[in-house]
Amino acid sequence: MSPPRILRVAIIGCGSYGAEHAKFLSACPAVKLHAVADIAEPRAEEFRRTYGAGYATSDVGRIWADREIDAVWICTQHHTHAPLAEAAAAAGKNFFLEKPLAITLADCDRIVAAVERSGVIAASGFKLRFFPAVIAARAFLEQPTLTVAQVIDDHWPSDFWANDPVQGGGNVLSQGCHMVDTVLHLHRSAPVRVYAAGGNRHHPTREIVDTAAITVTFSDGAVASIAVGDCGVPPHASKFALQQSGGTRSFSLYNRLNSLMTREDKQVTEHAAQPEQGAAVIDAPFIAAVAEGKASPVTVQSARRTTAVVLAAIESIRSGQAVDLTASPWNVAR
Ligand SMILES: NC(=O)c1ccc[n+]([C@@H]2O[C@H](COP(=O)([O-])OP(=O)(O)OC[C@H]3O[C@@H](n4cnc5c(N)ncnc54)[C@H](O)[C@@H]3O)[C@@H](O)[C@H]2O)c1
Repeated sequence: MSPPRILRVAIIGCGSYGAEHAKFLSACPAVKLHAVADIAEPRAEEFRRTYGAGYATSDVGRIWADREIDAVWICTQHHTHAPLAEAAAAAGKNFFLEKPLAITLADCDRIVAAVERSGVIAASGFKLRFFPAVIAARAFLEQPTLTVAQVIDDHWPSDFWANDPVQGGGNVLSQGCHMVDTVLHLHRSAPVRVYAAGGNRHHPTREIVDTAAITVTFSDGAVASIAVGDCGVPPHASKFALQQSGGTRSFSLYNRLNSLMTREDKQVTEHAAQPEQGAAVIDAPFIAAVAEGKASPVTVQSARRTTAVVLAAIESIRSGQAVDLTASPWNVAR
């Protein structure tokens, strides 16, 4: 049997999360970090030196033209996701795109259309789905009735790019998407309705929503309540926490979703805490999908649904009305 082919990969966006992927990709025997690119050339060059990439460039066109590259990791600001994803798909490059897919429905739809047109394998960076404790929780409770979840961070500086309405979208779009995605993943039925309250509580210079209490109703009647904001990490439950109940079973995920406690027929089991999970948890299944020509572990269609639910929550905050997710323009269906 011939040994598996080593994939040649590139990273676009040599910033903080690009570095998380670079750490894994530069050490992973299944891939060769062939190239790194950033509009800031010194940053790309520093990545090349630190992670032993083949070359560094500030010309992203060189990545698209490089016939040796099998897959590209796009780790840039959110308003660049759609144009870079479209260019990757047009060049026939499989791509991993950091979360959120994009922060407008129009951009999400551009990305989905580009992937469907080209047939490339594309994944979105919703790594929480692959945390061992989340996988165990999902297997434990197949039909949840009620979810209470949160992603509550410490204060983000107002001049942070993720708080820019165009580049980042603010905490609810940028980071709330992680927990909305996890909740949608844990509920097997389709989200059909959203109602939310919240607004901009502490970034007055930015036109963003930084705080939200979001209620999602699912097609099977289950409901989820999700709290999001950069207003101070709760010390006991932690930044990322989620509890779910259904029938005779319930569970709590805490310690940034690395610890799991399950309860069945009033018997509580505390499972061994997992170490904090890095980019490997999602990079590895994406690499396997590309190597084997299989379906993406996190489809762009599912990531579009996540952005749609967050945008619908923001729309609900603005209008004071519930939003029907099955109607246009949300068009959220499984
Ligand atoms: N999955 C997670 O837990 C997680 C955590 C943090 C950030 N992220 C995501 O990672 C992505 C990047 O965030 P970050 O914190 O690394 O940002 P960052 O600002 O640290 O890095 C972004 C880099 O992209 C470069 N860049 C911007 N536009 C470019 C373009 N058109 N072509 C080439 N390079 C370009 C910038 O120069 C910068 O070096 C975002 O989508 C963010 O939401 C994910």
